[in-house]
Amino acid sequence: MAVERTLILAKPDAVQRGLAGEIVARFERRGFVLRGARLVVASRELGETHYAEHREKPFFGELVDFITSGPTLAFVLEGEGAIATARRTIGATNPANSEPGTLRGDFALAMPNNLVHGSDSPESAEREIALWFADGLA
Ligand code: RTP
Ligand code: MG
Repeated sequence: MAVERTLILAKPDAVQRGLAGEIVARFERRGFVLRGARLVVASRELGETHYAEHREKPFFGELVDFITSGPTLAFVLEGEGAIATARRTIGATNPANSEPGTLRGDFALAMPNNLVHGSDSPESAEREIALWFADGLA
């Protein structure tokens, strides 16, 4: 399996609840290597661009309101098969369906506050890393 990079967001609910460090630590303990990190209050434009694939969905406005509602910790992880494995660590999109042992299954209860984002493909990872780390990685 190839070494990949993926963009993870500890969303505003995670930062507000003081869970950002726990989230980073879980990924680090699994073996991912941290390649960049940045605390940012997403602008409307950044939120809309990040979630552009959902622009036509009925929940788009609520989604952008949420991701722009406070500081987000954006970070890049590197590791073998990082994109899919990070999403398994995160758990199912709706916390009501997330398995215990996953981040959402251990720390989140209901939508839209699902705590963490992870890129869903190599194309998304490349696009999202460029978006959140326009000045490059550490
Ligand atoms: P994310 O992009 O945030 O990592 O989440 P995901 O891949 O697991 O889920 P995705 O399908 O990309 O959806 C993005 C975010 O939209 C909200 N959502 N709401 N009301 C709904 O039916 C619904 N579906 C998705 C969630 O906050 C999800 O994280
Ligand atoms: Mg997604």
